[in-house]
Amino acid sequence: MKPFLCLGIESSCDETAASVVEQGRLIRSNIIASQIDLHKQYGGVVPEIASRMHVEAVLPVIDDALQEAGCTLEDIDLIAVTYGPGLVGALLVGLCAAKGLAAVSGIPLIGVNHIEGHIAANLIANPELEPPFLCLVVSGGHSHIVMVNDYNNYEVIARTRDDAAGEAFDKIARACGLGYPGGPLIDKVSQGGDPYGSRVGDPYAIHFPKTNFPDGSLDFSFSGVKTAALNYLNKIEMQSRLTGQLFKEIIDYPDFTASFQQAIVDVLADHTFKAAEKYKITKICIAGGVSANRALRKTMNEKADMLGFTLFVPPPVLCTDNAAMIACAGYYSYINRKTSTGGMDLNACPSLGFE
Ligand code: KG4
Ligand code: ZN
Repeated sequence: MKPFLCLGIESSCDETAASVVEQGRLIRSNIIASQIDLHKQYGGVVPEIASRMHVEAVLPVIDDALQEAGCTLEDIDLIAVTYGPGLVGALLVGLCAAKGLAAVSGIPLIGVNHIEGHIAANLIANPELEPPFLCLVVSGGHSHIVMVNDYNNYEVIARTRDDAAGEAFDKIARACGLGYPGGPLIDKVSQGGDPYGSRVGDPYAIHFPKTNFPDGSLDFSFSGVKTAALNYLNKIEMQSRLTGQLFKEIIDYPDFTASFQQAIVDVLADHTFKAAEKYKITKICIAGGVSANRALRKTMNEKADMLGFTLFVPPPVLCTDNAAMIACAGYYSYINRKTSTGGMDLNACPSLGFE
């Protein structure tokens, strides 16, 4: 029997991506055109530029995805596209491309929540994984602990009350002069990578606060650690002005980045394992751009081993934005619910919530 093929399309931020996935879990192609180099000079994503680049990239990326998968549009059974959350102009590009293809071919169209997509990356990376499981979703805009009761059945059990983890990484990387994209640069420098890291940083060299709520809630808050890091940087800036020494000569980049990173990682890991204990669930997954972070992966692995949990970790390419995860999530929505958040009236929802 011909396998079910889903074409996934993702354009919610600064990656234009298309992918063909077989039977929901097997990647036939996974094409990602990143705009990082373009936005770097502005220190962050410029929405208007992002939309224009998506317009240029979307059709060639879809063509490449079909070609690499060894198929044509006629072989596709479902088109899944991210419809939110994200930048409205960016979302609309992927959405219009998907609608156009669905309209000319008659292939069913389904809208996918980007966060649901991130969680689904674990299903692709681990063919044996079945719900229920717990998932820590940490991206540029979200920090959630989600109980995945079943396919398409989610319960958010903790969320951030202010900044997302990725947002905190991005803001502090910019403030300390590392630039954009913040998370990967902090990850790199903390491990002794260029341009400012000459050795692996000590994750406990500098004390940064870790926020826990007294009401027993497992919610996150990263504004305290972010303010403490900004205060630390301001003191160095002051010292630089008083002594005439350069900022980058005073700051210890490996220790600063490693300590800031670990303060966030410790809270993410601590709350996730507490949630798993509370909900008596032994399978834990991580998802979203920040889940590519090496310190987070290490800490989660160590804790899982120590406490007797099974940890599932997608490869970094499936942690950051991609369309394979969108195809996977779309496939399960389609086969399990058969109700399509799709059709020609599907619109972009920039602030789409999650359950
Ligand atoms: O999931 P994602 O690619 O896009 C959103 O849905 O937001 O996540 C992007 C976020 C950014 O904040 C980026 O700095 C962060 O993920 N990120 C990382 C790493 N790679 C990406 N943060 C820490 N360490 C990394 N290696
Ligand atoms: Zn994302």
